[in-house]
Amino acid sequence: MNENTIESLREALRHSPNNTPLRLLLADTLLGLNHLEEAEAEYTLILKSSRRDTKATIGLAKVFYKKGNYSACNVILEEFIESGHDDIEALTWYAKGLLKENSIARAVETYKKVLALDPNFFDEELDSQLRVKGGRQEPDAEEEEEMYDSRFLQKPSINFSDVGGMDAVKKEIELKIIKPLMHPDLYKAYGKKIGGGILLYGPPGCGKTFLAKATAGQVNAKFISVGLNDILDMWIGNSEKNLHEIFELARYNTPCILFIDEIDALGASRSDMKQSAGRHLINQFLQELDGIDTSNEGVLIIGATNTPWNLDPAFRRPGRFDRIVFVPPPDETTRGSILQLKLKNKPIDSIDYVQLAKKTEHYSGADIDAIIDIAIELKLESSFTDGVVKPIETKDLLSAVKKHKASTQEWFMTAKNFAMFANDSGLYDDILSYLKIKK
Ligand SMILES: Nc1ncnc2c1ncn2[C@@H]1O[C@H](COP(=O)(O)OP(=O)(O)OP(=O)(O)O)[C@@H](O)[C@H]1O
Ligand SMILES: [Mg+2]
Repeated sequence: MNENTIESLREALRHSPNNTPLRLLLADTLLGLNHLEEAEAEYTLILKSSRRDTKATIGLAKVFYKKGNYSACNVILEEFIESGHDDIEALTWYAKGLLKENSIARAVETYKKVLALDPNFFDEELDSQLRVKGGRQEPDAEEEEEMYDSRFLQKPSINFSDVGGMDAVKKEIELKIIKPLMHPDLYKAYGKKIGGGILLYGPPGCGKTFLAKATAGQVNAKFISVGLNDILDMWIGNSEKNLHEIFELARYNTPCILFIDEIDALGASRSDMKQSAGRHLINQFLQELDGIDTSNEGVLIIGATNTPWNLDPAFRRPGRFDRIVFVPPPDETTRGSILQLKLKNKPIDSIDYVQLAKKTEHYSGADIDAIIDIAIELKLESSFTDGVVKPIETKDLLSAVKKHKASTQEWFMTAKNFAMFANDSGLYDDILSYLKIKK
């Protein structure tokens, strides 16, 4: 299409001025060649005779979009869509216009409508601006409901007696969480608010999640467990809403323990998402912790992370995560009890727990799970040959230990640096004393 085409189209229209498809072709050609004023005139002419012409409406909106007059573009499309037109092209341009006007939430909503009409639709610009990079597929409504169901009001069947050792951590939780829940009147009498949170940190696999579950079982409170990664929705702007909903859920179900795992994801979100989106989520999180709009009375928050040093210091202010508790790798006694706990319902011979506990220094709870898994595999192999179930013996577990390296030391290499060189007000003293480093 070029200037000649335009001339011949105009010529043809002189002979049949009421030929709408022909005029539309002219208008589209003008738009394609960026003759915006002339295109606008033609589209307007068509709309005068047929007010709801889809192609002319979208064409006119595109003219305004190209002129940078996004509000005019949006007004046209909004009216068109609201009068019941579910047109993919109209919706797409409306989403683009909204994006230009920074109405992110509505742009997301509109783009979602497009995807609902055509799941295979893809628009580079919209996708890259509206979808959080690396986000997972959005669950459909039913799945989402299920996710919420399993998330809230769990009733953990474990309690402190299932957690081997960890006395120092249990004591902190007792003071900050269990006592306030058991004796709310006493706290009220002294005008002390029940709330705020504990942040558990430590190497992976050492029982943070497990302990939080056991805490809820211990006090018989409602328990909401959610990973921050579940909250980070693929759509920009939704994370904050999800976070708010989770806190609201906890507030409606007091007394309640709200466990937020993977707090590290907040750090990650700052680099993955656009800077501002990450910042928003952090601010929203702080607001929820403070319970500004609605009180957090009776909501006790436990957070967990492997990398507390990435956490914005604002999270540690009074009333937020005001206690930071180190969850160390299990000591010898604890390793012995974890082993017993995990082997309880398995076919075993008499097991030398003392020896195994000695041989598993630096092993985490998760490492112990792995060792048992390896030992079982070895046993299974030999059971296949004769079909007889053979009990797990000490020597199987010992050879499994040889096959699986302890995983906690790597974490300490990093942690040690923070404890030695970025230890504001003794925040990481527990790491130093665990490593037997003198200050
Ligand atoms: N003190 C303990 N008593 C009993 N079991 C334990 C204990 N510590 C850890 N475990 C076991 O170790 C496994 C891993 O623990 P958990 O998932 O709680 O680790 P985590 O600290 O949350 O790890 P991550 O940082 O990777 O999330 C759990 O399945 C749990 O059964
Ligand atoms: Mg965990």
